[in-house]
Amino acid sequence: MFIENFKVEEWFNKYEKDAVYDLADTCVDSLTLNELLEIAGGKEIYLNEIFSKKLNYGDIHGSLRLRNAISSLYANQTLENITITHGAIGANQLVIMSLINPGDKVVSVVPAYQQHYSIPKSFGADVHLYFLKEENNWLPDLEELANLAGSDTKMICINNPNNPTGAVIPDEMLSEIANIARKSGAYILCDEVYRGLNHCGNPFSVSIADIYENGISTGSMSKTFSLAGLRLGWIAAGIGVIKQVNHHREYNTISVGMIDDYFASLAIENKDKIIKRNLDKIKTGKEILLNWASSEPKITVVPPNGGTTVFARYNLPVSSAELCKNLQSETGVMILPGETMELDGYLRIGYANNFERLKTALNIFSKWLRKM
Ligand SMILES: Cc1ncc(COP(=O)(O)O)c(C=O)c1O
Repeated sequence: MFIENFKVEEWFNKYEKDAVYDLADTCVDSLTLNELLEIAGGKEIYLNEIFSKKLNYGDIHGSLRLRNAISSLYANQTLENITITHGAIGANQLVIMSLINPGDKVVSVVPAYQQHYSIPKSFGADVHLYFLKEENNWLPDLEELANLAGSDTKMICINNPNNPTGAVIPDEMLSEIANIARKSGAYILCDEVYRGLNHCGNPFSVSIADIYENGISTGSMSKTFSLAGLRLGWIAAGIGVIKQVNHHREYNTISVGMIDDYFASLAIENKDKIIKRNLDKIKTGKEILLNWASSEPKITVVPPNGGTTVFARYNLPVSSAELCKNLQSETGVMILPGETMELDGYLRIGYANNFERLKTALNIFSKWLRKM
């Protein structure tokens, strides 16, 4: 089966190992197990518990403890509405492969995560891209989206909060998007991997699974909980969808590692502390980034409201891939070209990881820009 190259992943594979200053990353500074256990308190108890577990397959659809913890992230999702996957990447893949058939119309909002359009395309779906615009603060124009979706769409794919733009869809707008989908009974796959990282007010936006009968939320431990190394994600959706997904899941998952399940449960049970830590880091990084951007004449940034990245426009007559290649080879600074996310003329910059590195790299980038 043919599938297009996953451009962001390819860029990482090619350039990340030589990066001196990696600003392409989307994770908040990842936690060590020691840090997680310190946050949770009672290290000895937890380690004894995990060391004495028999390493069998564990609970096939995820432990009750884990699914209970995940359901606490939603308003209306119970154990039966949740299945556990290998990261959000496994969750998105499973949702699309379970629900999309050749010829189905899929509308994918971009820039976002390439899975949302390249996987349905690979199954022979009729995929339409809807491009977000900077002048709309990277939020969809509902009339345009409704026109594109029409009344014959099988699935609309969105990402909220959005990677790379940092835009957060207001709750009322999400309800409007659900109304657009309702016209054709379309599923909405909402990749909510950054949900819990809204910068102001409640860190958690309303989830699509809680407000739309055909809404499917995918999430994971990677961003909100700074635990990408657990490789653990989930799908929250109506029971009918979960049944279809689990039918396919038998073929590619069995279960997720029980050690991952254990530490993920512990992290979600301590969500307030972890999210506070992460939002504090995001606040510091965002201030550094926005101060830099405001004094950099060749760069324009829409201030982000969620997540860990911005999508910066640059005013130079080169492609984003060319810019990023030259910048990295001449200075060691790695950022991600917009071309890998279907929009040239932009650069994704991650700001939530290591602040000394962020400051140094932005300084170097400024000096480099002055020479251009
Ligand atoms: C929007 C989005 N979805 C999914 C993923 C994959 O996340 P996970 O590490 O949980 O597989 C990423 C990772 O960067 C992402 O940015």
